Amino acid sequence: MNSYLRRDFFQVEGYTSVFDARLFDFLLEMQSLAGITGSTAEIGVHHGRSFFLLARARRAGEQALAVDVFEDDAIYKDPLGLGRGVRFKQNCRRLGVTLADNEIYAGLSTTLDAAEIERRVGKVRFFSVDGGHRYDDVAYDMRLAAGALHPRGIVVADDFMNPQWPEVSLAIIDWLREKDNPLCPFLSSTSKLYLCDRRDKLFYRAHAKQFLTGGRHLVRDTDLFDDSYLFSRQGMRDRLRYFAKEQIALRLPRRQRGNPTTAPDLSPPAVTVPRRAA
Ligand SMILES: C[S@@+](CC[C@H](N)C(=O)[O-])C[C@H]1O[C@@H](n2cnc3c(N)ncnc32)[C@H](O)[C@@H]1O
Repeated sequence: MNSYLRRDFFQVEGYTSVFDARLFDFLLEMQSLAGITGSTAEIGVHHGRSFFLLARARRAGEQALAVDVFEDDAIYKDPLGLGRGVRFKQNCRRLGVTLADNEIYAGLSTTLDAAEIERRVGKVRFFSVDGGHRYDDVAYDMRLAAGALHPRGIVVADDFMNPQWPEVSLAIIDWLREKDNPLCPFLSSTSKLYLCDRRDKLFYRAHAKQFLTGGRHLVRDTDLFDDSYLFSRQGMRDRLRYFAKEQIALRLPRRQRGNPTTAPDLSPPAVTVPRRAA
């Protein structure tokens, strides 16, 4: 496991689970081992939680494109009023992630096209789609990702089948059912759908299965019309372990995190029980 996932991941505020993060890490590494070279990209970066996996996976000649409006909105208000853009840049500095100007696109994804992505970073081998969650945004972003994709690349769509965001699933399913769509799902977690070109489905599926089976996770076949793909859910032991790790990373002040001898005071607050009147 890479050092970002071991430690810093838990201190970058965001929405991607550690289970998906480990799948990202595994698939990115597997692509490199298989000689699949190209850039990485994400629509919907927030503070960079999942994007830093993509940026850190860059090998020589590869780039990572971050696409976001980088502003707070109705769903997210920065408690300190700094905003997503400032938070993202702070995290880049803290983690030592250097990005060239062409690797940051601050604007709506709908103002980008596949040719512009290619001009900035070339073909994309791993594309995470986690931006706008309304039907039109998702429909646009999936086509954009597919258009900029390396022939052997992966697109990962967030919040597939999340009941809180029904339009995400509708847009993805409508797009998948279009005739001549070369992409198909090979894997899903409880929140993300992983897609690749139909010709690579067995390749990615076999590797994902090998990775998942080693970790005591739930892995099942599921059907989407004529397409079957792997559904996976993180094992209970991992879930508890990472939940505890995340809570510690988010709650302990930095001073205490850096000094293991200073244990936090976890004793319950003193409670005074009022006496019943006689
Ligand atoms: C769910 S968050 C992304 C979470 C992030 N991937 C993580 O791992 O924590 C969604 C992000 O999408 C961005 N966004 C929403 N609509 C967008 C659009 N149309 N174009 C670009 N970015 C958009 C928001 O600014 C927000 O930062």
